[in-house]
Parts: sequence; structure tokens; C-alpha cells
Amino acid sequence: IKMSTLPKAANRHVTIAHRGGAGYAPENTMAAFKKAVEMKCDYLELDVQMSKEGEFVVIHDQTVNRTTNVNTRRSIYVADLTVAQIKQLDAGSYYGTEFCGERIPTLKEVLDEFSRKIGIIIEVKEPELYPEIEEKLAAILIGRQLDQSQNSNIIIQSFNFHFVKKIRELLPEVTTAVIISKRRYLTDDYLKEFTSYADYVNTSRRLVTKQLVERIHSHHMKMMSWTVRSKSQITPLMKAGVDGIITDYPDYVG
Ligand code: G3P
Ligand code: CA
Repeated sequence: IKMSTLPKAANRHVTIAHRGGAGYAPENTMAAFKKAVEMKCDYLELDVQMSKEGEFVVIHDQTVNRTTNVNTRRSIYVADLTVAQIKQLDAGSYYGTEFCGERIPTLKEVLDEFSRKIGIIIEVKEPELYPEIEEKLAAILIGRQLDQSQNSNIIIQSFNFHFVKKIRELLPEVTTAVIISKRRYLTDDYLKEFTSYADYVNTSRRLVTKQLVERIHSHHMKMMSWTVRSKSQITPLMKAGVDGIITDYPDYVG
């Protein structure tokens, strides 16, 4: 198993800024990622979809409607827009006027600005929609010499297990995680399977128990739990022994 390599404050729990720390800035924007660095988070977590020409863009949803100023009831799909079109959208004004002018970043922009300053968890959304997505992601990391997690502290995660398995084949030195929201994927058979391609089993906080964390550890994997949005949600996770807390409010984690 590959361990985190960035130094962190003594006794502080590993803290991951969910979508960059969506409690304090518009999710998945440079403004959020800068805050995550300022708040001394161990990692920022971001989501990627693909543009029309096959570029990774940092956005959670398949559509731009929720998180930009696009002004229509019709669903506008990221996959139907070029990067140039995506860059015309304002990804901050819906959140607050002080964030007016924020753009949807590309993954390359985020890696060039933030890799090696903070750990980065790249969540690949719906990879089954995008042809050769594994090869494209591998090329971006290899091109930036970020394919050795020991040096770069990058984790690639997805709800799609097949994708994670393929990434492990293409990038054997990159840390990987499966994301779990359903109990049926936490059987011993599944955990055993995950050990062949994942370092982390990142589980919804609703499923977390001490026993579950111990089972994941007994399979030599770790677990970061998501998504903490209130202070009262932290203590149960810490007591259960999770290895990291993915939160919209990084300062809640002591
Ligand atoms: O890190 C896991 C978590 O981000 C998954 O939920 O919908 O916020 O991407 P979501
Ligand atoms: Ca995510």
C-alpha cells in the first residue's frame, strides 16, 4: 500500500477538501482549491467529466446547469461543449458575487497549479460515457511525471470499479480508490477483489462502523469517508478509525 507522503500537522486527522471545500467557495473552482491550500488540507478532491473534444474538465455533474450561469431549463451537457464554450461560463456567480468570474478549470490547469503543493484526489465521473478515458488520463499524469504517487500524492478514484482496475493496469504506481455508497459492495468477496486494484475503499459516512474500518484494514487497504457537512458527523468517523475525512468544511476537522 502506498502511504501519503505530504507532511501534516501533528495529531490532525487527514483532511480532504470535498470538491475543493464546497462550504467556503464554489465547488471545483480554482478559488476553492486555493482555499484548500490556505486551510492546509492534506488533499483537495475534485470531479472530472470530459468535454466534446475529449479534454478533462473539473465539474461534478454531467450538465453545467447547476453550477454555472447558463440560463436555460434545458440540460446542457458538458460532453456537448468544447473547452472554449465551457470557458465562457461563469462558475462562481451562482455561489456569491465575490466569486463572479470563476471559470470551470481543466484538469491540466489544476495539476499544473496545485500538484505537489497539496494532495489531489481525482474522481472520474461516469467513465463509462467516455471512450479511452483511462488512456487519456494516464497520458496526462505520465506527461507531468505525476504517475508515481510516492512523489506526487495523487489518488484516482471512481464509483466505477472497472475503471479503477484499468487505471491500476495502466498506472501501477498511482494510488487508487473505489468509492462505495452501497452496503452490498462491502462483502468480503468484494473487499478481496478491491485489494487487487485499489489502495482505498472510500465509503459513505452512512455505512461507516468501527468493524467496517477494521475489515478494510485487515485487507490492507485504507478508508477515507465522505461527505462531512456538520461538526457532529466527525466524532463517529474518528471513533470508527477512518484514515481521512472528506468534507465541505475542512476547518471542522480537528
Ligand atoms: O469523494 C467521494 C465523494 O466526492 C463522492 O460524492 O457526489 O460528491 O462526488 P460526490
Ligand atoms: Ca467527488
